[in-house]
Formats: sequence, structure tokens, C-alpha cells
Amino acid sequence: MASYGFDHSLLCPLSPFSCSGKFKFPAKTPLSTVEFCAKASKSSSVATTAIEDSNQPCFDVSYGRRELILIATLPFLLPVHESMQKFGVKAAELGTTEYLLMKEEVRKVLSKGKAAGVLRLVFHDAGTFEMDDNSGGMNGSIVYELDRPENTGLKKSLKILEKAKSGVDMVQPVSWADMIAVAGAEAVSVCGGPKIPVQLGRLDSMAPDPEGKLPEESLDASALKQCFQRKGLATQELVALSGAHTLGGKGFGNPTVFDNSYFKILLEKPWKSSDGMSSMIGLPSDRALVEDDECLRWITKYANNQNMFFEDFKNAYIKLVNSGARWKNL
Ligand code: HEM
Repeated sequence: MASYGFDHSLLCPLSPFSCSGKFKFPAKTPLSTVEFCAKASKSSSVATTAIEDSNQPCFDVSYGRRELILIATLPFLLPVHESMQKFGVKAAELGTTEYLLMKEEVRKVLSKGKAAGVLRLVFHDAGTFEMDDNSGGMNGSIVYELDRPENTGLKKSLKILEKAKSGVDMVQPVSWADMIAVAGAEAVSVCGGPKIPVQLGRLDSMAPDPEGKLPEESLDASALKQCFQRKGLATQELVALSGAHTLGGKGFGNPTVFDNSYFKILLEKPWKSSDGMSSMIGLPSDRALVEDDECLRWITKYANNQNMFFEDFKNAYIKLVNSGARWKNL
């Protein structure tokens, strides 16, 4: 197989997440199911549950590493029923433990400065999805696609996650698709954005996705809308997700703060200013959005209401990371 500039051993060929040919979509049962503090996603067609990890007295997140390893390996050490009865561990909670471990390992390697690149990784993995032929999507194939021009700079973001993934794999092998989906959500959260629950259980593809599926920055609003529509994402979701550009160096406020400054600044159209610096702000695709009436309506709402932006971004993100995903057969 051709080298795509990434260490293939990272694909963990023994992982149960490796492509087995037994795809199931959508999953019948969500992997992470908790009895308390579980919230079903409104927008996702696949039931999504997670622990909202702030202000919730429901689950002790401060497991030591040894406890996490013990819980995750219990079923292998004792007959399943015995171990569950003895320790009061429900099968559903094992998925949750895995989720907490993933978040913990991501937090160890993720600084605010690295968040933008990690969030971008999510779009470049999931954004290849095409509804028509159900190709592409959130399947970890980005590891084979790093040498594509549109993915310039993402190698280092994946490298950052490599360490976190190894930490999780030692306890419970995890797919790249799940790892990237969780890391993107953590990137948003670490920069002050909404807390986004991510369902686990995606399988990794063992081959690159078709090329040319990500939108080019030169597209106008109508082409951007069509491109997102082919991925099952409405105009409102295009606008909300584009708000991710509030992170990074394109001039939409503080590059490491996730807020609604992207929309506020879009409304100001600083690129029209004669001042050289302001004219550098935004990508052509960002500027194109304000020229479209339907997009402008959403931009205005999000500029005036950060909570609405956070809520809509959260739901659109959940949809994005479930796009084209093939799920572990439980
Ligand atoms: C609407 C279509 C989109 C286009 C055409 C686009 C294009 C681009 C381009 C060309 C850059 C690099 C800018 C540079 O040179 O620094 C960029 C950065 C970025 N994109 Fe997008 N993008 C789109 C949507 C998205 C979405 C949906 C997300 C995530 C949900 C996203 C997340 C990011 C982030 C976080 C950065 C900053 C990366 C960094 O500074 O390291 N983008 N985008």
C-alpha cells in the first residue's frame, strides 16, 4: 500500500474497530448508555448519550488510571455476570468509562493553541461524506489523506492525538474516528465553547475516501450550500459550523477563544476597509456567506445570541461527526 505519510501501525490492526466488513448503520444501540444524566441528542438520527461533565454530581470523573484499567478489563478477568454483580458495574457504564478515559487523555495533550488544528481535523475527516452514494464521512480515513493539499498542516494535529490514542488503546482499543470526534469536541470546550456529547462506536475505514469532496475556499454561498446539502447539512448548519473559524488565525477575534465573534466580525465586513490588516480577515468562503440572504439571517442571529450559536453548533457538530459513520455491531 502506498504511504500516505502516516505511521500505519497507528491503525491498530487488532482493534475491534478495524474494518471487518460487518458494517451496521445506524447502530441499533448506542455504545455509551448511562442511566443518569444521559441526554439524547435532538438532531442526531442516532441516539446520542453522554455525560455533561460540568456541574453534574452524577458520575465521579476523577477515576485514577488504575481504577479505569480495572473497570475496563473486568469482563476479561471474571465471567461477565459475576464481575458485573460483584462490582456493580453495568455493561453500559463500560462505554462511559472509555469515554471518560478518552477525554482525560485528550486533555493531557490538548492546549488552547492546538485546539484549532484539532477541530479542523474533524471537518476534514467527516466532511468527505456524500449522501448520494454513502461514501466518505467520519471514518478515520484522514490518516491516509494527509498529503492531500487541502489537508496541509493537519499532520501535526494528528500527531498530537497519537499520544492520547495510545494512552486509550492501552486500556481499550479505540478507532481514529471516535478519537478525532471526541478530540474536536474537547477542543471546542477547552476554548470556552459548548460541551458536546459524542457517541462512541465508529469503525475506521482502511482506505482513503474519494478526493475532492471538501469545499474549496473559493466557493460562493450558493455552491457552499449545495456542497453541504450533499452531506445532509442544511444552510443553518453550514453557517453554524463555519463559526468554527472563530478559532485559528483568520482574524475572527481571539484565535484561542470559541465565541460568536466570527459572526459579529462578518457583519462588520472589515475586508472592505482600506486598512491593509483588516482586508486580510476571513477566507473568501467566510466573506461569501454574508452576501447570501439566508446565511445572513443566521449570521445575524448568532451575532446577537451566543447561546443560540453554541446550541446550534453543538447539534450540527454531533450531526457532522455521525456523518457516514459505520458503527460497531453490538
Ligand atoms: C464552509 C466551508 C469551509 C471551508 C471552505 C474551509 C476552509 C478552511 C481553510 C482554507 C482554512 C485554512 C485557513 C488558513 O490558511 O489558515 C480553514 C481553517 C480552519 N477551519 Fe475551515 N473551512 C470550512 C468549514 C469548516 C468547518 C465546518 C470546520 C469545523 C467544524 C472548520 C474548522 C476550521 C478551523 C478550526 C480552522 C483553523 C485551523 C487553524 O488555524 O489551525 N472549517 N478552513
